[in-house]
Amino acid sequence: MRILSVVGARPQFVKLAPIAKAMEGRAEHIIVHTGQHYDELMSDVFFKDLGIPAPDYNLGVGSGKHGEQTGAMLAGLEQVFEEAKPDVVLVYGDTNSTLAAAVAAVKIHIPVAHLEAGLRSFNRRMPEEHNRVLTDHASDLLLSPTEVGMEHLANEGLAERSVMVGDVMTDVLYSVREQLTEQEQPLPAGLEAGNYYVCTIHRPDNTDAPERLRAIVDSLAILNKPVLLLAHPRLKALAKTHGIDLASGSIVQNEPLAYPQLVNAVANSAGVVTDSGGLQKEAFLLRVPCTTIRPETEWVETVNLGWNVLVNDDLGKLAPAVERPTPQATDATPYGDGHAAQRTVEALLAAFGK
Ligand code: UD1
Repeated sequence: MRILSVVGARPQFVKLAPIAKAMEGRAEHIIVHTGQHYDELMSDVFFKDLGIPAPDYNLGVGSGKHGEQTGAMLAGLEQVFEEAKPDVVLVYGDTNSTLAAAVAAVKIHIPVAHLEAGLRSFNRRMPEEHNRVLTDHASDLLLSPTEVGMEHLANEGLAERSVMVGDVMTDVLYSVREQLTEQEQPLPAGLEAGNYYVCTIHRPDNTDAPERLRAIVDSLAILNKPVLLLAHPRLKALAKTHGIDLASGSIVQNEPLAYPQLVNAVANSAGVVTDSGGLQKEAFLLRVPCTTIRPETEWVETVNLGWNVLVNDDLGKLAPAVERPTPQATDATPYGDGHAAQRTVEALLAAFGK
């Protein structure tokens, strides 16, 4: 059986790693990189560090407006699918690469499986929310990471196509954490273990308006410990355009980290401040308190279990949230047991194997 994975943005490379491993010896696996993320630090290091085979195709689409970027992917992917003739196209998460691959495949009658199906923020301002909903409804097999995801799919009439597999990001995190314990890693920027926060900000609602971005930077600058700000290219570009100095007060600006270094930095931190989906979960799995600068989250379990606090309009609440005492210990495992990739491959073989 031939399975074709389409990835393009940083979080998708992380999800691809355990899937590529689990496919070995079980199915022919073709990897297509749309080129949505292209910087060495946003793309290549993930393939290298996580042992992912080099992509069979790279469309080199790059950045652009939503329509321009997604359209270029659609055209390129259709050609690749016609040439590679996969039995199923596997799409990951909620980016423009996900939506483009799902649409390109269904139009030429190739079945689509969506990994990380069923997540909802119910916030229609987020491009990712449209990507999720449209991809779920176009897909033939919906692979959900959580029970909450399964409920959302059932509410939308998609229960029959849905399978709960767990979260593949748990698989990667556990295996990388194991490697880290064998080999101690230095912390970036000479930071001291337990005495700094890890921060990422990249969502359009937080970065695009200068007043909003300035207010966020000002609230980070007054935190009581150094804030390791891992600056996404989008953040750097917009801060420059708006004339905002990212390295002010407590903020220590740094390049994005490779995955093992990121896990190490979070595991040794006093807390995480972010608007990223993946990082909220990684903080929870490493039992590091998280504060999320968004009005809502798809990863509601992290909030319900007390390890994630949302702060949005009232940024005066950011410092008290970040500096709060450690939450109550929990042994809950809402994101699976670290074997989601295995279950994903089994579900794919059962649904599309010949
Ligand atoms: C995308 C995803 C988002 C995901 C995020 C992870 C969509 C709609 N959004 O957002 O869901 O959480 O990736 O990072 O697909 N850029 C570079 N170098 C790169 C990549 C991007 O400089 O390697 C810059 C470009 O200026 C570009 C901007 O970042 O315009 C935004 O990149 P884009 O791929 O459009 O979306 P992200 O904001 O990264």
